[in-house]
Amino acid sequence: MAPLTKNSLLKHSTVKMPYIGLGTMQIKTEEMDDALNTALDAGYRHFDTAFRYNNEADIGRSLKKIFESGKIKREELFIVTKLPHHGNRREDVEYFLKRSLADLQLDYVDLYLVHSPIGYKRHDDITKDVPNFTQLELDMETDLVDLWKGMEAQVDAGRAKYIGISKFNSRQIQKILDNCRIRPVNLQIEMTIYLQEKELVAFCHQNDITVTAFSPFGSPGIKAFVESMKDAAEPLKDPVIQEIAKKYNKQPAQIILRFLVECGVGIIPKSSNPTRIKQNIDVFDFELTKEEFERIRDLERGEDGRIFGKVFFGKSIHHPEYPFGK
Ligand code: A2P
Repeated sequence: MAPLTKNSLLKHSTVKMPYIGLGTMQIKTEEMDDALNTALDAGYRHFDTAFRYNNEADIGRSLKKIFESGKIKREELFIVTKLPHHGNRREDVEYFLKRSLADLQLDYVDLYLVHSPIGYKRHDDITKDVPNFTQLELDMETDLVDLWKGMEAQVDAGRAKYIGISKFNSRQIQKILDNCRIRPVNLQIEMTIYLQEKELVAFCHQNDITVTAFSPFGSPGIKAFVESMKDAAEPLKDPVIQEIAKKYNKQPAQIILRFLVECGVGIIPKSSNPTRIKQNIDVFDFELTKEEFERIRDLERGEDGRIFGKVFFGKSIHHPEYPFGK
């Protein structure tokens, strides 16, 4: 296998999706220009957002300036956004993707994902925004196969080049594969050194679905905001990771990212800090030894390693499509 570089693409029969993208969830309005420019200068060509992150308009404004400056062309970028949980119905997909495109100031996204298999009800007036979808009621009628037809229509209309899913389990993915006209090309899931999702990743790769790992560091910032997360695991502080980091003169974050890349999955670390944005793409000049890779493999904790699970999602566990162990 040719050595991986920061321009490497995830293995797929058709889609050209860069291994590394910038996660943008917590980037503030006033930080967006700098974050995107730093990322582009460092070599990122893939940006990940979601309707739910409430920052698509910020990204759109920054991208417009970047395109106008001639620094990069639209078609050189891979832009991902996601259908919100309260739009998980076939007939709602078009409205939400059009809203995202208007905010992003784009004609199309490269990849549109169903953010979660768990659907929420929305206001009767679809244009009415919700500050936080979890204040809405669960939609117990979510029909993933029917929803997927709404996703396929977006490819037909040219609004999304590709479509995919996030937080789906293998049973839910199989159901889509068995009933689709246009296949999902990507699954985005939580993956850390403690939750490695080996079987799910293998299942996706066998089915020509790329995998992207979100929250590779276990979202260290979340403890400050969410009381129930105060005991969540801290991958960056793991002694095995710290020991390997010392050997390569790298940061713990870089060892975690390198491990995930060597697992064959894409990475979308979030950062708004220019030093860390650069650090997070600087993982292609060293390789873990087989023994180091296996030592990290052994850190697996299965379902106990999940951060965004039942504690975080609260009432979502009562939804018929809740994808994880209860
Ligand atoms: P910051 O934006 O100040 O860099 P995750 O992707 O697992 O959700 O983690 C995102 C969090 O990790 C953010 O709080 C981000 O803070 C922090 N972070 C991002 N990159 C690094 C890094 N290289 N080292 C340490 N922390 C990082």
